[in-house]
Amino acid sequence: MNARPPVITVDGPSGVGKGTLCQWLALRLGWHLLDSGALYRLTALAALRRNLPLADEDRVATVAAGLDAEFVAGADGAMRILLDGTEVGDAIRDERCGAAASRVAALPAVRVALLQRQRDFRRPPGLIADGRDMGTVVFPDAELKLFLTASAEERTRRRYKQLSEKGLDANLKNLAEEIAARDARDARRTVAPLRPAPDAETLDTTRIGVAEVCDWALALIARRLALPGIDQA
Ligand code: C5P
Repeated sequence: MNARPPVITVDGPSGVGKGTLCQWLALRLGWHLLDSGALYRLTALAALRRNLPLADEDRVATVAAGLDAEFVAGADGAMRILLDGTEVGDAIRDERCGAAASRVAALPAVRVALLQRQRDFRRPPGLIADGRDMGTVVFPDAELKLFLTASAEERTRRRYKQLSEKGLDANLKNLAEEIAARDARDARRTVAPLRPAPDAETLDTTRIGVAEVCDWALALIARRLALPGIDQA
């Protein structure tokens, strides 16, 4: 019998809607949430603040290993993210930080430094893990692995809307280029490249709304995990 708390992984490229689905699932099930992208973004921000060259693998990995980061879940499922004691939720969300995150995420020593910290999020009653390699590397034994895709145009549109709503600076053309560059880097890197686990359930969300994505995930959960209060639709 597997005594470890269950994990549901949600992987996919930027702007595909993983964050929305994961927050909803964590609230719906009352489970913990791991936003693994935030750990790479925090590492990038901490390295930039220390004026480290992002290609300096040893020093950036040391920053990742010693990251003073805190995730505080609010009642509505939203997460406050603190770095060195101060709130950085918005600072890590801009595309400059996203691009820097994807650079440091390509460094093998940085991924090693963050591996155990991610696994430590697996606590009862269960974990929803959001990222790029949750199902392939961090939680290969997850109870359910989901992988979301959507066209590059749709993902750019969603990310633009998300950034604008937060009042963050966004230019559609630059954003399209930055997202394309980030996706290419995430998919081509030698360690933990973005790809679905062989046993992942994949959904193309280009033409479907959030509610349908949530229904799809919940139906799979009902079928694959026997959880109290979650019935098969
Ligand atoms: O998901 P988010 O856009 O916040 O991730 C920022 C960057 O962190 C990604 O572009 C990717 O390079 C990296 N990342 C990763 N592995 C994860 C999560 C994020 O390499 N599990």
